Amino acid sequence: MGENTDLPPLTHLAIIMDGNGRWAKQRGLSRGEGHKAGTETAKEIVKECRRQGISYLTLYAFSRENWSRPKNEVNFLFDLLTQFLQQEESSLLEQSIKLNVLGDWQKLPFSVRQVVKYVCNRTAGGDQMTLNLALNYSGREEIVKACREIVSQGVSPEDLDESVFRSYLTTGEQPDPDLILRTSGEYRLSNYLVFQAAYAEFYFTQKYWPDFDASELQKALEDFANRQRRYGGIGE
Ligand code: IPE
Ligand code: IPE
Ligand code: MG
Repeated sequence: MGENTDLPPLTHLAIIMDGNGRWAKQRGLSRGEGHKAGTETAKEIVKECRRQGISYLTLYAFSRENWSRPKNEVNFLFDLLTQFLQQEESSLLEQSIKLNVLGDWQKLPFSVRQVVKYVCNRTAGGDQMTLNLALNYSGREEIVKACREIVSQGVSPEDLDESVFRSYLTTGEQPDPDLILRTSGEYRLSNYLVFQAAYAEFYFTQKYWPDFDASELQKALEDFANRQRRYGGIGE
């Protein structure tokens, strides 16, 4: 018996939104224009996932490693994120979508933290979908932080099992991602959901994120629907 077999087929979709820069370059635009276009895609995909009945959507918006980008790009990304949250607040409320943040977001600039907190509080009652934004996220750091917390709380070794451990991760009690989707033709995890990805299915597309849309999502969902998840068994 697989651990997820009593869940509907696709409960949690996690996306690595990649390729904004290359999309822009291809058009002779600035990287910022690429990120702007990527934000529009994110809005569309949030709506579409909600419409498709997906319960958890996790979007990788800023990795811990993304701090290594030029300062002006990092600032631009935070400005865009702030605008995204301000613009989407009413739409999230209307769609009963709860915003949740994964990662070490306390280290983000004050203005970003303010809007993140505000929209999380405002949408806390959303019961149709949880939208996780991974911000200043590092899967390895999340694991180390969980260990630190467990040790500092004096949890005894015999009380620590996988389910206790996962409750210390920023995904808490959420189910693991069923499908991890990455755009732009890169085939790597980039420190995303390292613990949670253990049994995820993967879907990669060459499309750059700004070119990804509802019909591309549909292709991914159909592909996923034909996967046979075995969890170490021998299947049907
Ligand atoms: C993804 O697009 C957005 C973030 C990482 C914030 P990129 O900016 O990584 O785009 P490429 O990979 O340079 O094309
Ligand atoms: C991963 O994309 C992070 C986000 C999508 C936010 P990157 O473009 O930063 O990943 P690498 O550096 O190519 O692995
Ligand atoms: Mg990239």
